[in-house]
Amino acid sequence: MEFTCQKDKFSIPHDVSYINCAYMSPNLKSVEEIGKISISKKSLPYLVQPSDFFAPSEKLKKEFAKLINVKEHQRIAIIPSASYGIATAVKNIDIQKGQNIIGIEGQFPSNYFSWKKKADKVGAEMRIISDNSIQHRGRNWNDAILNAIDTSTVVVAIPHVHWVDGTKFDLKAIRKRTNEVGAYLIVDGTQSVGALPFDIELFDVDALICGGYKWLLGPYSLGLAYFNHKFDHGEPLEENWLARKDSDNFAKLVDYEPNYKPYAHKYSVGESSNFALLPMLIESIQQLNTWGQENIQSYCENISKKAIQQISEMGGNIESSAFRGNHLFGVQLGSAFEIDILQKAFKKNNVFVSQRGNAIRIAPHVYNSVGDFEKLVGCFEEAWIRKWV
Ligand SMILES: Cc1ncc(COP(=O)(O)O)c(C=O)c1O
Repeated sequence: MEFTCQKDKFSIPHDVSYINCAYMSPNLKSVEEIGKISISKKSLPYLVQPSDFFAPSEKLKKEFAKLINVKEHQRIAIIPSASYGIATAVKNIDIQKGQNIIGIEGQFPSNYFSWKKKADKVGAEMRIISDNSIQHRGRNWNDAILNAIDTSTVVVAIPHVHWVDGTKFDLKAIRKRTNEVGAYLIVDGTQSVGALPFDIELFDVDALICGGYKWLLGPYSLGLAYFNHKFDHGEPLEENWLARKDSDNFAKLVDYEPNYKPYAHKYSVGESSNFALLPMLIESIQQLNTWGQENIQSYCENISKKAIQQISEMGGNIESSAFRGNHLFGVQLGSAFEIDILQKAFKKNNVFVSQRGNAIRIAPHVYNSVGDFEKLVGCFEEAWIRKWV
């Protein structure tokens, strides 16, 4: 499929280069439109049907199941945040004193605090893996994770790509190693799923947790999670009526059904029918399925490759493409650029990226173009220290 810039599907002004989807995606115009309609629905509550509590949730789960290649959409849960999904996984994994939980340096807090709290409570070790190499950092970091997994490892909880610089973790190799020692593999897909292909059949993770307002192009406060068979007999964080068997029979709600619906249904948050937000996320994931995540990756690669080469030649350090996303990568500035001048140039030129430590995070999507990257390179040129010596 020949893929062209999709900026006309978004409301970002033509003179704004928003290369920061890792912070927050813009709404698709179609998502904004559906959001307005769905918010107004409650103004006439007598039009809200009992089926509205169930049918949109099913549709959303099916659409997400398609995106990540899950056969049973009942394995998808609707969550309000990544931290909620991670807390659900933590609650349902038996962790003993002396065992270890593996995470990575600089991991997003939502995939750290719950593990750390449980580790401290039971006397387990929180093993944080880092790598400080300048060259081949992605490969070395992956090797370090594999080497850190041992027979005492109970969980590896990592993202697919690092939220700061896009370093890509080799989930296939890590799955193989976790299987050898019988450890869980829990993945935070918030910074990848939607833009970077994720295939449950291929990676075989035990749980995949995704906030929805970044690469899923959805609204804030709504996300999705996948839980495999190991969680079938677990317990949710809260007891809500929608999680119970036959909850669509409103007349029998106070018969207090003792059984949950099967699979991951019980892990959905209370009020997961969310009439205002669900239709928005359904619409955005349908659009992602139409575009195809492979196409999004190759589009981002095409529009950024010349800029990557130019910035690298000026002295910016960018991970090799095999070990990072095309939709998310960092430029380590080293001593090649004057950071204050760079920040001023971004502001002056309406270029939106994030600074994380001494690195700039660049996160393009299909609304970006070669023109945005030319503006980005112009900013780096302004701040390039070599120019003045
Ligand atoms: C890797 C990652 N996970 C999760 C989140 C969001 O977490 P939560 O939904 O708990 O606010 C972010 C936000 O930047 C993130 O980068």
